[in-house]
Amino acid sequence: MSPALDLFAEIARMKRQQNAVILAHYYQEPDIQDIADVIGDSLALAQAAEKTTADVIVFCGVHFMAETAAILNPGRLVLLPDLEAGCSLSDSCPAHEFERFVQAHPGHTVISYINCSAAVKALSDIICTSSNAVRVVGSVPAGTPIIFAPDQQLGRYVIEQTGRDMVLWPGSCSVHVLFSERHIVRLKVEHPDALVIAHPECEERVLTLADYIGSTTALLNYTKSSPAGRFIVATESGILHQMKKASPGKTFIPAPPDNGCACNECPYMRLNTLEKVYLCMRDRAPAVTLPEPLRVRAKVPLDRMLALSRG
Ligand code: 13P
Ligand code: SF4
Repeated sequence: MSPALDLFAEIARMKRQQNAVILAHYYQEPDIQDIADVIGDSLALAQAAEKTTADVIVFCGVHFMAETAAILNPGRLVLLPDLEAGCSLSDSCPAHEFERFVQAHPGHTVISYINCSAAVKALSDIICTSSNAVRVVGSVPAGTPIIFAPDQQLGRYVIEQTGRDMVLWPGSCSVHVLFSERHIVRLKVEHPDALVIAHPECEERVLTLADYIGSTTALLNYTKSSPAGRFIVATESGILHQMKKASPGKTFIPAPPDNGCACNECPYMRLNTLEKVYLCMRDRAPAVTLPEPLRVRAKVPLDRMLALSRG
């Protein structure tokens, strides 16, 4: 690729030419967030994918997100800049093992967090995201037993919020479980005015330190509306780009992981780069596709979630 190529201009040109829309999660690198038509959490991006009229969806996120867009858009080309952009949480729940788990719990309503494969979605009754999990669980009639998969941390948080008993699949996000309770406490001592905000994929020992818990969009909105001027942020550090843009006078401190590595960056999300966005649009590949019978089955629980989240 020529270093003289203006990637921003080229991507904008191809977007017009192809009638493409660029959807990006908050965990994408800042350059990608800056070229996106929609930046959002998993629910907002699924909703944007549901209502788009574009011919091409460039999904700057991870595989399960692009797959969700493909489930909702059989006639459209869905591109993922790097096909290797997976998700540790989704990988922690292989469909064939989950099928046995579901069979071992007859009569249970199966609620799956959107961070799972299309095959796991197809085994589920309803999907949820971190922003509507409490509402989705609350929609299941009292007394009906529930399986919640694949994130045990989010599941535990929802049990606490709703008082519902649920059978949890033992999956976790490799990024969110690494935040160090010890380092967060040290930061709180250094900055007593700072509020701790955390994503519900974090472990309970981190969530108990949090002043506010929510999805990426909820965390961003909280930093905008809160009168506080300093926040310790326990989620993937990509979200800091929008927090700083929205509140330039406030200070955002990324919560440190346990081992001093750059693990508060999701290694899967960060596989996408501006160059790969350009290349996938130029080559119209790699595309995310699904066998039609699987797409149709996976769409049922997704549609239920989208209907429940309207209004
Ligand atoms: P939300 O987009 O629902 O905040 O979830 C974060 C996440 O980990 C996405 O993979
Ligand atoms: Fe998956 Fe965790 Fe990365 Fe989100 S942050 S995409 S849950 S590995």
